Parts: sequence; structure tokens; C-alpha cells
Amino acid sequence: MTATESEERGSQRELPEIAAIAARAANAHNTQPWDLRYRADHIEVGWRTEYALGPSDPSHRDLRLSLGTYVETLLISAAEAGVPLEFEPDYDAGATRVGRLWPAGTPRTTPFTVSDIEGRRVWRGPWSPRQVDLPLIGAAQRAAREAGFRVAAVPTASARPLLVRAYHWFFGHAGIAAELLAWTRLNPRQPEYRQDGLNDVMLVLNRAERTAMRVLFAPLVYRLLRPLGLVRLLTVLSSSATSGDGWVLVILGKGSDPAREVEAGRLVTRLWLQFFQQGVYVHPQSHVIDCPGTVDDLAELCGAEDGERPLVFFRVGFPATDPAVRPRHPRREEAGAQA
Ligand SMILES: Cc1cc2nc3c(=O)[nH]c(=O)nc-3n(C[C@H](O)[C@H](O)[C@H](O)COP(=O)(O)O)c2cc1C
Repeated sequence: MTATESEERGSQRELPEIAAIAARAANAHNTQPWDLRYRADHIEVGWRTEYALGPSDPSHRDLRLSLGTYVETLLISAAEAGVPLEFEPDYDAGATRVGRLWPAGTPRTTPFTVSDIEGRRVWRGPWSPRQVDLPLIGAAQRAAREAGFRVAAVPTASARPLLVRAYHWFFGHAGIAAELLAWTRLNPRQPEYRQDGLNDVMLVLNRAERTAMRVLFAPLVYRLLRPLGLVRLLTVLSSSATSGDGWVLVILGKGSDPAREVEAGRLVTRLWLQFFQQGVYVHPQSHVIDCPGTVDDLAELCGAEDGERPLVFFRVGFPATDPAVRPRHPRREEAGAQA
């Protein structure tokens, strides 16, 4: 065996480990839709249709963003393992593929580590009044420009009316409510509790809220109570997601190329880890973009021009309590790697 062949085999042995770390990537509803398909000389990165969301992700934008976060996280994980890989985009919806990973000449350098990947997590709880320093937001805007996107910084107070309207739309949509319930893990005795979905801990629900959610989202109760003020009640219960000061960041991109959404997902990972290294937490809120009644107002708020459209909406700030003491959202053990 030549030295190169031996290195290649060595790196192939490390790939499942690299993929398991990559599975810590942020992804919509914690569905973990990615799928690694090992070929003779490369790895295809695709998705499994059974993990693609329906009404909650009507254009599959979040699916493509999530595949981008996965690719970027995988490349960071590979770089730390000393396994040189490069990503070749090749989006094909019919083949459920976003691109391929190839062996590269030299390992990538990255400012991010596996420890950043493992420490990062979403924050959906209340925010401290402390503000994110403007130079950090400026750094995020520079990183976005380098990747061909734009980050607009909007004060939360200006975005709040849109957030509230979007929550109202979200909770009033029977298909979205059913999908949310299907991916919510409220009971530690559920087998899926330790595999995927959104758990009560990271949704920052107390016991009463957990019970209320289970009851109110049950299809019959939801149908009966929806015309009687349930949607308004659920919107009010989500107030920690809409209250407080600080900044909302919106990534804007031009055109409608789905492959660009995968690239935007890669950027999301870099920005999220950049913030995480500075103790700043992130809460994406996709429904402001998906809601037909808020997306145009959001674009206007961001000063969108020349065909720009919002791709990602996330609040940044400092949590009022320590997120690191809460068990993270889990991942499926197979880590998405299919032989
Ligand atoms: C493209 C994308 C969209 C997301 N949208 C939302 C959202 O609308 N609301 C929310 O609370 N979290 C959202 N998230 C966060 C995910 O739910 C979170 O990443 C996932 O549950 C895994 O948890 P972790 O990030 O703590 O590992 C989004 C994440 C991504 C990558």
C-alpha cells in the first residue's frame, strides 16, 4: 500500500467520527435531515425526504440552510481531525443532493474548533439586558459580505410587531401546529426524547407549560379552541421570544438559486460559532420569513434592494440564565451517515 493509500484509508476510518461531530450542526426542528452517501472516491451530501419539514418549511429554505450548516460543521470537524476535505456544490432536488465532499490537497484552516461545535446551542429563553457589542455585529456583516451575502442589523423593538404577527400566523396554521407537536419531545419517557426533535428543556418550558402545550396542541382541543382565542394565548405565551431589546440579524441574498441557500447555511454556522466564541447566543425565528404577511415588511425593514430577499432571521444576545447547564437537544446515534 502506498503512503497516500494508507492515509486515505486512515481518513476513511475517521469519517464516521467526523460525521458524528458534524451532526451537532444547527438544523430546523432538530430533524437532522442530512445523509452522507459514501462512494468510491467521494462522499455525496444529500438529505432524507422523511426528515424534510412540510408546512413549517413551505419552500424548503430551512432544509437547504440546515444542509449548509451541516456541511460547514463537517468541514470544521474534518479540519481539526487533520483530514483535508473540500465541498463541491452540486444541488439536485431530484437526486436529493446538495453536493460532494472530495479529498483535498491540504487541510483547511479555520478559527473554529470541535469544542465550539459541541458547546454551541440554540437559546429560546429570556434575554439579559446586556447588549451585543457593535464591533461583533460589524464582524458578522464583514463575514457575510465576503460570502456574497448581506447581514442587516435591526433593533428587536422594530422587528417586534412582525415577530408577534408571525407567531400569530404560525400558531393559527393547523398544519404547522400539528408538525410542531410531532417534533416536540415533552416527555422524557418518549423513545425519541433522546434522539431528535425539540425537547422541553431547550424550549425552556416549565412543568405547567409542558402540560399546557401537550393539551392545547392535541388536534381535537386545538380545533375546538382555535376560534376561541387559543392562537392569541399561544402568541402571548411565546413572549420571551419577542420581548427584550438588542438586535435581530437578517441574512439577505440575491436571486432564488437553491444552492445559494446551502451557502447561506454555511455562513450561518460561521456566524453562530463566531458569536458563541464571544459568549453571544442565537435564536433563529424562521416564521417571520415564511409568514406571507410579514416577509415583505421584513425585507423593507432591512432596506432590501436589487432583488435581495431575507433568508435567515435570528436574534443575538446574552441569555438571562446559563444555557450551558441545560441538556442540549439530542442527536440520533447513527449521525446521519448511511453506507
Ligand atoms: C435553518 C434553521 C432554522 C431554524 N429555525 C428556528 C426557528 O424558527 N425557531 C427556533 O426556535 N429555532 C430554530 N432553529 C434552531 C433549531 O431548532 C436548533 O438548531 C435545533 O433544534 C438543534 O438544536 P441546537 O442548535 O441547540 O443543537 C433553526 C435552525 C436552523 C439551522
